[in-house]
Amino acid sequence: MELVGITKRFPGVVANRDIHLRVAKGQIHAIVGENGAGKSTLMKILYGMQRPDEGEIRINGSPVGFHSPADAISAGIGMVHQHFMLADNLTVLENVILGSEPRRGGIAIDFAAARKKIKEISDAYGLGIRPDVPVEELGVGDRQRVEILKVLYRGARILILDEPTAVLVPHEVDELFENLRGLVREGLTIIFISHKLDEVLRVADAITVICRGTTVATVDPKQVTARQLAELMVGGELPSPETRESTVTDVTVLSVRDLTVRNPDGRVVVDNVSFDIRKGEVLGIAGVEGNGQNELVEALMGIRPSTGRIVLNGTDISEYPTRRRREAGIGYIPADRHRHGLLLESPLWENRILGHQTRRPNVKGRRGIWLDRAGARADTRRIVREYDVRTPGIDVHATALSGGNQQKLIVGREMSGDPVLLIASHPTRGVDVGAQAAIWDHLRAARAKGLAVLLISADLDELIGLSDTLKVILRGRIVADIDPSTVTPERLGSAMTGAEEGM
Ligand SMILES: Nc1ncnc2c1ncn2[C@@H]1O[C@H](COP(=O)(O)OP(=O)(O)OP(=O)(O)O)[C@@H](O)[C@H]1O
Ligand SMILES: [Mg+2]
Repeated sequence: MELVGITKRFPGVVANRDIHLRVAKGQIHAIVGENGAGKSTLMKILYGMQRPDEGEIRINGSPVGFHSPADAISAGIGMVHQHFMLADNLTVLENVILGSEPRRGGIAIDFAAARKKIKEISDAYGLGIRPDVPVEELGVGDRQRVEILKVLYRGARILILDEPTAVLVPHEVDELFENLRGLVREGLTIIFISHKLDEVLRVADAITVICRGTTVATVDPKQVTARQLAELMVGGELPSPETRESTVTDVTVLSVRDLTVRNPDGRVVVDNVSFDIRKGEVLGIAGVEGNGQNELVEALMGIRPSTGRIVLNGTDISEYPTRRRREAGIGYIPADRHRHGLLLESPLWENRILGHQTRRPNVKGRRGIWLDRAGARADTRRIVREYDVRTPGIDVHATALSGGNQQKLIVGREMSGDPVLLIASHPTRGVDVGAQAAIWDHLRAARAKGLAVLLISADLDELIGLSDTLKVILRGRIVADIDPSTVTPERLGSAMTGAEEGM
């Protein structure tokens, strides 16, 4: 596959400028670059979702013109997006076949045939898909496998994966890479986008660097280091999340006792969890995705019913609705920024108000009942500046921002108004190495001023580096306390799967 001279403009931005890229058959080709460099845009062009203003796509030497993803799919190209695109209320099987349902006699959907085909693909690549589970019950790791299967189901031979590992913990990454190697052995070609440079070096056969919309180099992973790659991308150095001196005090900010959450079907997903977080402390929760982290966080935010006691700064907030919890000073970075963090079709300044709609600077008047547009707009500009959100302005819709820049906006919003407690799920997911370092600095500075943080992250270096205290969650229970100053990512990884006892 070859891209020749691709250029794509958006209002106020040249997303791709004279891109040249050659991808050899049967290889894993990685694309790296800063947030907003133009990676996703390029992939959307290749997948027929967007039309290039200039340039040509060639497959096996012949030019192709895609007007829609359907054209790309029939040319054998499939894409797994940076943000998942599954319908929550449908089952895995329904999602996979959606839009290409096998028909029996041309009318009825042939579920049996679909189930059989899904099972065959799932077994062939070890994806472990359960066809009849509703997607809303799946964690991000599982959702991603469903997306991959969906693409394979449509017969893709060239697979585009936009940040597939952002949500995975190390052993899931290993599994995914095994899957990908299996696919290329079968002659498939994979284009892979990631900000995790060590992973890119591990899995890719070739790496292309994009900088400010254009391809600047294609390198052999055997000949470069992660540091050299980072320098090609940004001219910067790789950050490390190390927390130097402790700022933990003995003042308890959050106290959780016997918190239990049940699924709608009655299954216990958070089991009698208790912990405290003190002023100036980062409490990290390590766990393989799907072990109750999301439910724990949503119970703390009042989005999900729970039993037990939640006390914030001495006040029992267990019965508070979400809005009052936020007003009491809880900032919240959700795991899924599109479903729970943004209104994609609204401008950035309206997104600044989201979840903060009863507080200054977004409201004015004695009881704060009038929306303060000027206040919200000015503060959005501050966030854009302080968090380096790359955007032509605050009136563009959130959907026009690159994934990493959307994340920076959310972090900036949730750190505003000096929260007393920050609940952060994967705060730097999809953010490039430079911006990640900046977010870590913001978190450390707030922590030094007394912020308490509940940190959930699939990035074990981040978890170990930022946490003052680390706990492991497994099947909804806290099963181990770990000293972040001595543990290695490898040992933490095995503790998370329950492999390591007595830690
Ligand atoms: N639909 C759109 N409308 C306007 N501008 C857009 C749109 N989509 C992308 N852009 C802009 O194009 C540029 C490239 O964005 P793109 O999403 O391709 O970046 P990326 O390299 O994937 O970044 P990230 O690592 O953060 O995901 C950015 O400046 C972005 O704001
Ligand atoms: Mg992107």
